[in-house]
Amino acid sequence: MKLVILLQFVGFAVSTKLYKRAICTVNSLNDPDKDDAPAINSALETCAQGTTILPGNQTFTIQTPLNLSSCRACNLEINGILALSPDWNLWKSQPAAIQIPGTTAAVISSGENTGLINANNFGRCQQETNPTEITLPSLFSITNKSYQIHIRNLKTENVPGTAFNVTSGSSAVRFYGIEFVNSAGTGYHVEQAQHVYVWNNTVRATQTCVSIYPNSSNIQVEESTCIITATSGQSGFKLGFQDSSSMGLDWIRNILVRSVKAIGSMNVVVFHPGSSGGDGQPVPVEITNATFTDITISGPAKQAVLVEEGENPLTAKEISFNAFRGEVEENDEIKCNKAEDTCEFETKDWQLDVVPGK
Ligand SMILES: *[C@@H]1O[C@H](CO)[C@@H](O)[C@H](O)[C@H]1NC(C)=O
Ligand SMILES: *[C@@H]1O[C@H](CO)[C@@H](O)[C@H](O)[C@H]1NC(C)=O
Ligand SMILES: *[C@@H]1O[C@H](CO)[C@@H](O)[C@H](O)[C@H]1NC(C)=O
Ligand SMILES: *[C@@H]1O[C@H](CO)[C@@H](O)[C@H](O)[C@H]1NC(C)=O
Ligand SMILES: *[C@@H]1O[C@H](CO)[C@@H](O)[C@H](O)[C@H]1NC(C)=O
Ligand SMILES: *[C@@H]1O[C@H](CO)[C@@H](O)[C@H](O)[C@H]1NC(C)=O
Ligand SMILES: *[C@@H]1O[C@H](CO)[C@@H](O)[C@H](O)[C@H]1NC(C)=O
Repeated sequence: MKLVILLQFVGFAVSTKLYKRAICTVNSLNDPDKDDAPAINSALETCAQGTTILPGNQTFTIQTPLNLSSCRACNLEINGILALSPDWNLWKSQPAAIQIPGTTAAVISSGENTGLINANNFGRCQQETNPTEITLPSLFSITNKSYQIHIRNLKTENVPGTAFNVTSGSSAVRFYGIEFVNSAGTGYHVEQAQHVYVWNNTVRATQTCVSIYPNSSNIQVEESTCIITATSGQSGFKLGFQDSSSMGLDWIRNILVRSVKAIGSMNVVVFHPGSSGGDGQPVPVEITNATFTDITISGPAKQAVLVEEGENPLTAKEISFNAFRGEVEENDEIKCNKAEDTCEFETKDWQLDVVPGK
């Protein structure tokens, strides 16, 4: 059934080629000093329209990025463990460990529900991670107009930076059944992307579960749990704009966050209008059509909704907060910080108890 759906999306490939689905099975070299990535990449190329299987009960050492750019209607089944090399020198100049640039119709999943990706903190001790340093590599980077990317039933652990970075015109990207065994820095970073769906996830993060940056639209997070494990200044769902000069109007549109449990001492929904960043003029920023509904909060959270101060003029329209329940430390009115901003916020069925923080 899944295959049928997938093939419809890549009808061009089916009609121009005799379609034979190859299977490539990669066995681990079984040596933590040897890189399994070249063999996996070569299987991904050979089976670019087929299935590459990493069998269960095997650990694959990854010292260089996996590259899914050749994939066209491919499956990558991760049934074993991908263990990233704990040698920071191998990772410090890489944008990501698993790169999905300009890829069409890829399914990355664990057929047996056993797949685990251990990023081993990219060889960096978490305590040493200084956020003002260079951006840490992300675990997955989905860029350059990738289309129809499905990632499902995988577990991740020891991801120090962003686990999933979805950018640069990518669209129709679905993350189903992803469990963050322990905290990543940020779960999802979405920027310049459309139609991104996160469903049935358990996201654990120290910074932010899902951060949405311009120019992104139709981003939906449903039936998921967001657990923030750090104690100060963190956010569950952040709708943000860069602190730097940009040309024109930056926007975020059509956001739905539904049936979500938010656990931990966080601001559950954060609007970050951003600042001009020293040089340059403030740029107008706009958020249109965002709905947060059926949000259950425990921890307690700091606040359910925080509109941060920023220099950029903010227009927020058609924003609704429905059925928020649980415990917060503060339950202030949700409003703009500056008189010239526009904030059309609607709250319905708001049942939050104010309790002291732990
Ligand atoms: C993995 O090991 C478990 C326990 O030893 C076994 O039940 C299972 O069949 C193995 N799976 C594979 C794919 O070999
Ligand atoms: C990924 O593979 C494609 C072709 O297979 C190549 O052009 C590209 O440079 C590779 N990217 C990386 C980051 O290795
Ligand atoms: C992006 O994709 C296009 C077409 O698929 C390709 O020509 C270009 O080299 C890719 N750029 C990067 C940075 O991967
Ligand atoms: C996400 O990917 C984009 C494009 O490759 C990159 O510029 C950005 O720094 C990445 N962001 C994070 C948080 O990894
Ligand atoms: C939801 O995800 C979990 C893994 O986190 C998986 O075990 C479960 O089967 C998924 N539920 C559904 C309905 O797919
Ligand atoms: C977002 O799109 C608008 C046009 O709709 C453009 O003016 C603006 O520069 C874009 N912002 C970014 C950060 O690319
Ligand atoms: C508002 O956003 C939701 C969620 O992405 C979308 O389903 C809906 O069509 C949008 N409404 C309008 C009027 O664009």
